[in-house]
Amino acid sequence: MDGKKVGITETVLRDAHQSLMATRMRTDEMLPIVDTMDKIGYHSVEMWGGATFDTCLRYLNEDPWDRLRKLKAGFKNTPLQMLLRGQNLLGYKNYPDDVVKEFIYKSIDNGIDIIRVFDALNDVRNLEVSIKAIKEAGAHAQATVVYTTSPVHNIQTFIKLSKDLYNMGADSICIKDMSGILRPYEAYNLIKTLKSEIDIPIQLHSHYTSGMASMTYLKAIEAGVDIIDTAISPLALGTSQPATETFVAVLKDTPYDTGLDIKLLNKVAQHFKKVRDNHMNGDTARVMGIDTNVLMYQVPGGMVSNLVAQLSQADALDKYDKVLEEIPHVREDLGYPPLVTPLSQMVGTQSVLNIITGERYKMIPNELKDYIRGLYGRPPVPIKKDIKEKIIGNKDVIDVRPADLLKPMLPRLKREVAEYIEQDEDILTYALFPQVALDFFKYRKAKKYNIDDNILDKDNEVYPV
Ligand code: CO
Repeated sequence: MDGKKVGITETVLRDAHQSLMATRMRTDEMLPIVDTMDKIGYHSVEMWGGATFDTCLRYLNEDPWDRLRKLKAGFKNTPLQMLLRGQNLLGYKNYPDDVVKEFIYKSIDNGIDIIRVFDALNDVRNLEVSIKAIKEAGAHAQATVVYTTSPVHNIQTFIKLSKDLYNMGADSICIKDMSGILRPYEAYNLIKTLKSEIDIPIQLHSHYTSGMASMTYLKAIEAGVDIIDTAISPLALGTSQPATETFVAVLKDTPYDTGLDIKLLNKVAQHFKKVRDNHMNGDTARVMGIDTNVLMYQVPGGMVSNLVAQLSQADALDKYDKVLEEIPHVREDLGYPPLVTPLSQMVGTQSVLNIITGERYKMIPNELKDYIRGLYGRPPVPIKKDIKEKIIGNKDVIDVRPADLLKPMLPRLKREVAEYIEQDEDILTYALFPQVALDFFKYRKAKKYNIDDNILDKDNEVYPV
């Protein structure tokens, strides 16, 4: 064997709890174990981005920037990593370039070392500004290939995309298999070819959803993959990543040895077992098994629960099987987009509408019309003329980079939230989630005054008037 040391990115502070605990882990549940984690020797710890930003503000009343700074203070030796949706940042639509650049600069200022950036459509134009800004700020730009399967995707599609990203200046490439559908022997061929054609590190990100990911990682390692994403065992498997300890044990005393200390990992596992048990509920059980829908329809775990919710709202749960069968047809109509945010939501919603109205494309949400007009980017293959006409009539399709149509936003945003700003980062928080941010800013202000009130009360007790 001519292998080399394999790097481990630990995902427990981002993807693992996003996948298994609806992203509800709080900063105070992370901090007590940071010192131990920092001694392990991970390639990196993924701890920001994805849904964590939104959830911090919306459900936990936490400032995500504050979480980042606190974790940075604890992780003195371990690079911190985040996931960014390219021109969509951590939101669900395109933002103008001034917001994208400022968000990236501030993320790096506050402690992010590696930014993994992806575009749902693999449209490299949506990654240009991000990659450039990351590199300008001196951080590591990891560009992403979103993996999917369809009659128009094959190994050459992903090799060509990887080369384009390499030529754009990516420092490393991530193969992102968000649904867990990359099969072991395909991974072997893909990684082997990539390693022979590109001389930057290749990282593999998969989910255990279909039960294949551990085997896929092992074949990818044999093919020369440099880094894998794993989660500490209490928050591994199911819709999360393969377990960290498993790979440390599997690779020990081989040329691929990770070098990580299994005893220290055990301490980390004990901590997160308690955290997980505190959050355990019915949903946790549902995301833990093997999901065969992924193998049959490519429908990832999160999408299944959305479909069930939409159908039960319409009192049409009996149409569930019909909707599952409709999904591949809608995906074909839309030019085979990968089923990842925000396209997974669009394809799912349209499939539900096609079935419950009894007529295809009778009702069409605005997001889908925008997609057909090219406002999210270029689909993997052009959309057929009859589908296009059905959805947007004779309206034009844009052929420029979507963000070229957006005007700078920062000066206006700054004026709008002037009275709440306590740090420059607040403007970016407001740019991404205006209403949620305002609620959070008001909560933060009120909390501050409450504390002042208490102090006044106490003063009054000591010095009664
Ligand atoms: Co993931």
